[in-house]
Amino acid sequence: MTQNRIGLPPPPPVGTTALAPGTFAGTAVFVTGAGTGLGKAIASEFARLGAAIVIASRKPEHLAAGAEAIRALGAEVLTVACDIREPEQITAAFDAATERFGRPAVLVNNAAANFPVPAEDMSPNAWRTVVDITLNGAFFCSRELGRRHLAAGTPASIVNVGASYAWTGGPGFAHSAAAKAGLKNLTESLAVEWGPYGIQVNCLVPGLFPHEDMTADIQDNLERTHDKDACQPALRVGQRQELGWAATFLASPFARFISGHTLVVDGANWQRRSLTNPPVVTIRDQMNRGPFEA
Ligand code: HXC
Ligand code: NAP
Repeated sequence: MTQNRIGLPPPPPVGTTALAPGTFAGTAVFVTGAGTGLGKAIASEFARLGAAIVIASRKPEHLAAGAEAIRALGAEVLTVACDIREPEQITAAFDAATERFGRPAVLVNNAAANFPVPAEDMSPNAWRTVVDITLNGAFFCSRELGRRHLAAGTPASIVNVGASYAWTGGPGFAHSAAAKAGLKNLTESLAVEWGPYGIQVNCLVPGLFPHEDMTADIQDNLERTHDKDACQPALRVGQRQELGWAATFLASPFARFISGHTLVVDGANWQRRSLTNPPVVTIRDQMNRGPFEA
């Protein structure tokens, strides 16, 4: 007889909150990329707790979808078209946010870029684009928030959304993995530099959280693993509210002494390695690419 495999229990349903109602009342929370997927889920949990939400991203359809989700929760929302690669657009977005709700006291650097590509096929511009959005964009947003709070002498909290290949490397995603490693490291530098000024900086790493907004490239990559639950030690993938709860906790008054930390929400999936991993399949073969041609 074998031991029962029950996996990690499911979380409470969407709509439940651990923090007290109104925890973020009167607080403007600036979330990049909150029109889709995990950013929308994170913004929704802040909204449930009374925050006014600022959504910054490029595409009007994403901004509209995010705004609709936040309004449906009865919270206030402002959308700002902003490409986080452009510092002056970030400044304008923070100006608009401040005019509407007051200075944002929480920044969630959630926006990122990613697509699978063998390193040898990656163009210089493909590398630059992913690093520019995922790492440089997060720094530019953090800098904007930090300078405003330093000047005003007010406290703030930054949550950077990372990825576990920051530690392991990410074959097939070399650009994103390097950028996320940079983001984790940036978290640690800024937490020390800005702690004396009341600014807390943490990183939040999602495990596998499939969602309908995932880009076609990422979806295709995941389709290679049909039974995703069975591949996780938890025997299930993440539910979006679980990430939102972690983000709201990190930015809440109950986590004020946590800074420079990276919190992984992945049911222990990234530690699942051994010296006898499955046989090596090259990234080219995984992606059905033929032999490399210069
Ligand atoms: C190879 C690619 C490519 C692909 C784009 N490029 N897609 N190269 N394979 N699939 C190259 C282009 O050819 C170009 O290089 C360069 O990248 C820039 O492409 P553009 O289309 O001009 O860029 P832009 O319009 O700025 O769009 C950025 C983008 C796009 C990253 C390419 O996909 C995007 O906007 N993504 C945002 C959403 C996203 O990526 N979400 C994923 C987050 S999930 P050349 O040399 O031709 O000029 C995540 C973790 C998931 O991060 C974890 C896994 C489970
Ligand atoms: P997603 O739905 O593709 O979201 C990415 C968001 O970033 C989009 O809303 C996009 O909005 C925004 N964005 C991209 N480029 C931008 C730019 N230049 N300026 C402003 N906004 C930009 O992906 P997701 O799955 O929700 O991922 C959210 C975060 O979680 C990312 O940091 C990702 O790396 C991380 N993550 C996700 C998973 C997962 O399983 N889903 C796992 C590990 C880590 P616009 O297109 O409107 O600009």
